[in-house]
This record gives sequence, C-alpha cells and structure tokens, in this order.
Amino acid sequence: MTETVLGNQMLKGRHILVTGIANRWSIAWAVAEAVLREGGKITLTYQGETQLGNIRKILADIPGGDSVLVEPLDVCDEEQLTSLCSTLEKAGIFLDGVVHSIAFALREELDGHFVDTSRKGYLLAQEISAFSLVALSKALLPRMNDGGAIVAMTYLGSERVVPHYNVMGVAKAALESAVRYLAYDLGGRKIRVNSLSAGPVKTASGRAIKGFGDMVKTVSEQSAIKEQLTVSEVADVAVSLLSPYFRGVTGELIHVDKGYHALGMVLPGSSPA
Ligand SMILES: NC(=O)c1ccc[n+]([C@@H]2O[C@H](COP(=O)([O-])OP(=O)(O)OC[C@H]3O[C@@H](n4cnc5c(N)ncnc54)[C@H](O)[C@@H]3O)[C@@H](O)[C@H]2O)c1
Repeated sequence: MTETVLGNQMLKGRHILVTGIANRWSIAWAVAEAVLREGGKITLTYQGETQLGNIRKILADIPGGDSVLVEPLDVCDEEQLTSLCSTLEKAGIFLDGVVHSIAFALREELDGHFVDTSRKGYLLAQEISAFSLVALSKALLPRMNDGGAIVAMTYLGSERVVPHYNVMGVAKAALESAVRYLAYDLGGRKIRVNSLSAGPVKTASGRAIKGFGDMVKTVSEQSAIKEQLTVSEVADVAVSLLSPYFRGVTGELIHVDKGYHALGMVLPGSSPA
C-alpha cells in the first residue's frame, strides 16, 4: 500500500478559528490538531465552562497550547458573536479560515418519528445547526482575510432519510443550502464556503442519535472502502478545504464517508472486486 505522507505545511502562516470542541473526541479537535500539523495557527471557541476545562486540558498536552486564544461562543447569543469579533480585533488577529462544527437537537427529536417533531425542537435545531453558520460568517467577516475559507460539517441525513436523524437532517439540508448562498455572497472577497459531509464517527453528538452504534457498523460494512471512518480522515479533508489547494472550489459539498454515499444498494452476497 502507498504510504500516506501528511504534514506538508499547507496552512503555513494561516490562522484558523475552530468552533465546536466539546472534548478530545470532537471532530473539531481533530481539525484543530491537523491545522497545527500543517503549520497553521488556531483560535478556539467553547460553549460553557465544562468545555473550557476540557479544552485547556487538551491544550496543556501540546507545545505552545497555553498561548492559544480560547473564547466563549454560544451561537444563540448575539453578544458573544460580537465580542468574539472584538477580541480578535484586540488581539490583532485576522482569520484565514473558520470551521463551523456545531449542531444541536433535543434528544427526544432524535428518537421517534420525524412527523412528531415539535415546533420548538424544529426551530432550535435550525437556529443552532444552520442559522449559526450565517450569523458566525457575518460576525467574523470584518476579521477575515480576502481569500479565506469557511468549512461547515454536515451529514448525509440531509440528502437521504436516515432513521432517527429526523429534524437534524432537515437542519443540515438548510446548512448545506446556506453554504451555497454564502459562497455566492462572499465570493466577491474570494472567501470560499464549503461543506464537508462526514460519515458517522463516534463523538458526543453522534451518540445522542438513537441506534448510532448500529449506524457506524452498518455504514462501515456497506461502504465502498469497508472500514470505519476516523476523525483524522475527516480532519484532513477539512484542512485541505481550508488550504490554497482548494482555491478554485466553493459552494461545494464533499462527502468524506469511504464512499457510502455513492452506493444505491447493497445486495446480500455481492462484494467489491
Ligand atoms: N459525529 C458524527 O458522526 C458526525 C457526522 C457528520 C457530521 N457531524 C457534524 O460534525 C459537527 C461536530 O459534531 P461532533 O460529532 O464532533 O460532536 P461534538 O458533540 O463533539 O461537537 C458538537 C459541538 O456543537 C457545539 N454546540 C452545540 N450547540 C451550540 C451552541 N448553541 N453554540 C455553540 N456551540 C454549540 C457543542 O458545544 C459541541 O462542541 C456537527 O455539526 C455534527 O453534526 C458529525
């Protein structure tokens, strides 16, 4: 097998803001680590004191981790969005990239039937998981360099019905559409906006979906490449999207799922060549 060589400094000198690190298993942390490996700098956001403690512990394990700026951000709080921008200004930071790795739905909406979705649950999932990308982009624009990039994490449940994903699938569909509209609006400043559709990986948010363990197993058995997806595989595509290698790509949705999305049907007894 060909050796995979990573760490080509494709983000050298670039400053990336990464949202959505709940703990060391979060997709966002894998992205932050990959940004550092590629020579970039990071600013992180957290939601609540528990996450701040988790992030500080993770950063303590990496060289220079104690000097990373870690700022509060609840995307439902306009004041926090505004003060994030002012803090970047005070610190003299201009961003070359933003990673949106944020989603939320009430646990009860990720269990029963979609038809039973409550109004409150629908609106909350939309606000946190989709509108937040618009709000975050707008808030950070004054601190973004022209030619920067925004990447949002999404999931196949937006395009196809995935049992129990329910209201989150509809919110992800809105998020993907927002990516295209933002790509158009921000294209004037050559800021690219793309979404990355990851296959299921075990994180706190994933586990909130009923039957998530079965989902991970089924997907790895039925993908083109029959292996479990890892967060670092997702993170490496995220850093690529943030890098100049993807400077001609915007408004795009890229599946990182070992080819699961490409299959229409799996028949018993059929297997790859
Ligand atoms: N885990 C998977 O299988 C998978 C697959 C495809 C896409 N995704 C997406 O990846 C992203 C990251 O999820 P993860 O799996 O790493 O789980 P995670 O639980 O580690 O991260 C989710 C993050 O969303 C943040 N968040 C929720 N509400 C927020 C709010 N109001 N303000 C600010 N932040 C808020 C949480 O604080 C947390 O850090 C999500 O968009 C998720 O939908 C995950």
